[in-house]
Amino acid sequence: MNLGMETIPLNWHEQIINLLAERIVVVDREGIILYINEAYCEFLGTTVKEAINRPVQDVIENTRMHIVVKTGQKELAAVHPINGSEMVANRFPLVVDGEIVGALGTVMFRSPEEWRMYKTKIQNLAEELKYYKTKVEKELKSKYHFHDLIGNSTTFLAAKKLAERISASNSSVLLIGESGTGKELFAHAIHNNSIRATLPFVAINCASIPEHLLESELFGYDDGAFTDAKKGGKKGQFEVANNGTLFLDEIGDMPLSMQSKLLRVLQEKEVQRVGGQKSIAVDVRIIAATHRDLEKMVEQGKFRQDLYYRLNVIKIEIPPLRKRKTDIPLISMSLLKKLGDKFYRKGIELTTEVQQRLMEHLWPGNIRELENVLERAINVLDGKTIEVSHLPLYLRDQVLESNSINEIKPMENVPSENNPIQISSLKDTLAQVEKEAILNALVVTNGNKQEAAKLLEISKTSFYEKCKLYSIR
Ligand SMILES: Nc1ncnc2c1ncn2[C@@H]1O[C@H](COP(=O)(O)OP(=O)(O)OP(=O)(O)O)[C@@H](O)[C@H]1O
Ligand SMILES: [Mg+2]
Repeated sequence: MNLGMETIPLNWHEQIINLLAERIVVVDREGIILYINEAYCEFLGTTVKEAINRPVQDVIENTRMHIVVKTGQKELAAVHPINGSEMVANRFPLVVDGEIVGALGTVMFRSPEEWRMYKTKIQNLAEELKYYKTKVEKELKSKYHFHDLIGNSTTFLAAKKLAERISASNSSVLLIGESGTGKELFAHAIHNNSIRATLPFVAINCASIPEHLLESELFGYDDGAFTDAKKGGKKGQFEVANNGTLFLDEIGDMPLSMQSKLLRVLQEKEVQRVGGQKSIAVDVRIIAATHRDLEKMVEQGKFRQDLYYRLNVIKIEIPPLRKRKTDIPLISMSLLKKLGDKFYRKGIELTTEVQQRLMEHLWPGNIRELENVLERAINVLDGKTIEVSHLPLYLRDQVLESNSINEIKPMENVPSENNPIQISSLKDTLAQVEKEAILNALVVTNGNKQEAAKLLEISKTSFYEKCKLYSIR
């Protein structure tokens, strides 16, 4: 029977194939490339001549073509990272006369609709992956106790004492503090100091978990709740944390719709899995944390008042580093020790001048920022002493800045002949402050601009504009 292909001239075939699939590769049953088109090679940064007759794994990163020829299983819409972009790959075994002779692979986006479809699929997958990855990393991290919470200042000790005192209670705790002040440490310490210490401590980051996952993550799901739901359903974190503690980090970032559902669970002390009928009783102690101003969010209608009251039974405010400057030397020492262990660099010290600069800085990113600064210093250090030159630029320049700030404070610094008040225009002063805030945010986020923009609570666009304005790379 004539199937049509025979009547198509042979020299048309390649063009037809290339029009059907943008990027295509054919391997034999050993996984050796028999055919690969130019578009694919271009995308891979190679040439047809170089790629042909080579093992496919050597040419295409993360490929599974050599596996498909073994398994004989086709793989459709598989996410395939190449060159840092997430592509969608289809892989088919080629079967001739009932035998696998090789495999055909395509990587492509043929139409905008298809691309959109793939994109949502990938985006969800990528988000889920990222979420689980950080969760696994978190769970592997050591647990903290109160003795890990360093600081002797009165403000800090007050918070720490309160936290210690209420550890045993079953009431909800709300930890309020700027980014990097140690909210997570407090949550761990409270749990480890409670009668629930040997029972689960489950942490959920409400900001990083994709919205479409949050409900099933918290409450679990039953068989058949989704098309690809696991057989037998899945426990939610409330169930996992049963009899223990559930740490709801970044609670201020929880969408309103979820807030209502959370409130219901807290009131009724039972959860219903997504797609499930029966209620499951749970006994969970809640510790919530946020860097946001929840009261303001309640006023603005962005956070449910009833939920706020329910969480705010015991409120612990963790002071920012700038309000407990006397703790800076002690914390630096403990961080240096921790970092020293990590990098196998023992006995690292700070010069007096560095200590002074650390004391003067305002630390918008708090202890995490301090940790980043010290880690950076250790990385650029040859000997054992951290000097000013090992600090990031914004801390090196600081003396000038902090002097000029001091000079503006009339109470502390009476102007004299050798200490005149220096006034620059308001515009320049504001620009200077803005620039410093951006630089600080970048240090805190290790150079991640998107995160930095979030910290500063400005849009990404305006962040990039400001970076350009102040020549910040
Ligand atoms: N009192 C402390 N003593 C020593 N190290 C601390 C202290 N508080 C926080 N740290 C360290 O600072 C870093 C940030 O702490 P943590 O993650 O608990 O902050 P956070 O308030 O949860 O911040 P974010 O809001 O950014 O999540 C951690 O590496 C932690 O080990
Ligand atoms: Mg945190």
